[in-house]
Amino acid sequence: MAIQSFPITPSTSGKSPRWTQPVSFYGQSVFSKYYAHSICVFLLLVPFLISPAAAQGQGAIGGQNCVTNYNAADNVDYFPSKISDPGSDQERVVDNAALFKVRYANNYKVVTNTAGKKDYVLYQCGTTAPAASEFANGTIFISVPVTAAAALTTTSVAFIEMLGKRSALKVVDTEGLVSSPCVQLGLEKGEIVGLEDANKTLRAEQFKGADVIFGDGFSVENGTESKTVGTSEVSDPGPLNRAEWLEFYSTFFNLEESAQKLTGSINNNYNCFKAAANAKATKPIVAWSSYVAPSSYNNNTASWTLSGADYKKILTVDAGAAFYNGTDKNTFTTSAEFLASIKDVDVIIDETFAGSDLTAFLTSYGLTTADTANYKFLANKAVFREDGLVNPNDGRDWFSGAVAMGDAVLQDVIRAVHPDALPKDVKYNWLRNIVNGEPKQVLTSSNCTATDASTPVPDRAIVCSTMKLDGSSGSAANKAVAGSALTAFVGLLAAALLF
Ligand SMILES: *[C@@H]1O[C@H](CO)[C@@H](O)[C@H](O)[C@H]1NC(C)=O
Ligand SMILES: *[C@@H]1O[C@H](CO)[C@@H](O)[C@H](O)[C@H]1NC(C)=O
Ligand SMILES: *[C@@H]1O[C@H](CO)[C@@H](O)[C@H](O)[C@H]1NC(C)=O
Ligand SMILES: *[C@@H]1O[C@H](CO)[C@@H](O)[C@H](O)[C@H]1NC(C)=O
Ligand SMILES: *[C@@H]1O[C@H](CO)[C@@H](O)[C@H](O)[C@H]1NC(C)=O
Ligand SMILES: *[C@@H]1O[C@H](CO)[C@@H](O)[C@H](O)[C@H]1NC(C)=O
Repeated sequence: MAIQSFPITPSTSGKSPRWTQPVSFYGQSVFSKYYAHSICVFLLLVPFLISPAAAQGQGAIGGQNCVTNYNAADNVDYFPSKISDPGSDQERVVDNAALFKVRYANNYKVVTNTAGKKDYVLYQCGTTAPAASEFANGTIFISVPVTAAAALTTTSVAFIEMLGKRSALKVVDTEGLVSSPCVQLGLEKGEIVGLEDANKTLRAEQFKGADVIFGDGFSVENGTESKTVGTSEVSDPGPLNRAEWLEFYSTFFNLEESAQKLTGSINNNYNCFKAAANAKATKPIVAWSSYVAPSSYNNNTASWTLSGADYKKILTVDAGAAFYNGTDKNTFTTSAEFLASIKDVDVIIDETFAGSDLTAFLTSYGLTTADTANYKFLANKAVFREDGLVNPNDGRDWFSGAVAMGDAVLQDVIRAVHPDALPKDVKYNWLRNIVNGEPKQVLTSSNCTATDASTPVPDRAIVCSTMKLDGSSGSAANKAVAGSALTAFVGLLAAALLF
């Protein structure tokens, strides 16, 4: 796709949605590459009006500025804000994420993707990188903070925007599937470019201009070995693990402090939702299921699958429900056998890629409207799909914003299984009810309200601790960086708009 690549329709882009999942043992991690990310915002005005970069950078040692007159003998710690781990001051493992860790030295930090078994040495701009001989072969050295980034997965886009670093995002792959309104706008204006596919010269130039290329962790393109960083958020086995990759991304921007405030807030909000949902006496049975039509990818054999993915299981249990992934098997080749297995499931989250309404759902599962009384999920009017937030090409935010916003995803799952644990007027983000005909919410560049590229994209969750079950959703998420007068003012403004 050439430089100004929007709007892109599936027929002309060459990067249209893939209707079959690429073969991969990491499943969704690769699948998510095709899905773009993120969101601007309508309701959530409060969070982060203050740029994390401004809050943390200027004036701090190192921080957002390059060091001048570096002298190692001065023994200065250039990273006063570290990802914290009370247990150790060496390998600083993070609270939830299982697949990365960070270690700090005076003028550099070593960020390790433990899934990809790869170290990234991030040294403060203006200081001298440590000797490569001190590290494993293949270790990558990057001067930080980075100011130009390429995102090969649209999942990365969400993390970068939540840190308020859209200004650093220069190149995006599969840009036709980006859900973020402001990144869509940036693409339209040419401030962000879609990664070129056909012209290899241009593609190499685009990569050359980037300080870092955030990839999926498993493939590195020729010529980009020195700057491609593998990210594994979609493989980290839990919603809070996934969100905590905000801290991984933050190390490249020296934004550890704001990232930790953000993940702390997501954790707290998540745990509050979890407590509210688990106070309910019933445990509805939930299955995350999908149908795959016969094709050359599956020996022309139709199949129905019940997902056993860890993060879905954790979300289900934390939403006060029971996770169902089959009794003796989770993949079926006849709809009769599959339907017998899910007969008593109370809530279905339909992950079938194609087909977006109840009619398509019934057809793909081998059901008709006459079956309503025989299947609990139909009688309960409880069939949901993950495409509640999409771009005009059906680029799903489920694969981007939802990876980072663990608390908001749990809120959506609770809305599906225990709606009375949330305010009556709470809106869906990703999980829309297709029995009730809830529509896809289509995000375009016109939904970009935060035109300042350093305004962090706020989390979509409501604030659990102040929610009122009588119908008002409480104020927007409390992710404010600092209790400044500005934040207070905007909080009042948001309250005035919401109540
Ligand atoms: C790293 O690579 C060099 C040559 O490419 C080799 O001599 C050296 O043994 C390697 N070191 C390790 C630790 O694998
Ligand atoms: C490929 O890109 C290069 C660099 O932008 C440009 O000079 C060249 O004309 C392009 N080639 C084609 C065939 O468009
Ligand atoms: C990558 O580079 C190596 C040698 O540098 C070459 O053998 C290989 O074919 C290249 N791969 C691609 C996909 O261009
Ligand atoms: C594909 O399907 C045919 C007939 O349905 C069967 O004989 C064959 O074993 C299948 N192949 C694989 C790899 O499953
Ligand atoms: C269901 O998931 C669990 C892991 O959560 C797994 O151990 C079990 O084998 C799965 N059951 C089926 C039938 O796939
Ligand atoms: C996007 O903007 C349109 C108006 O341009 C509005 O109607 C719609 O509600 C917005 N969608 C979301 C999800 O904010």
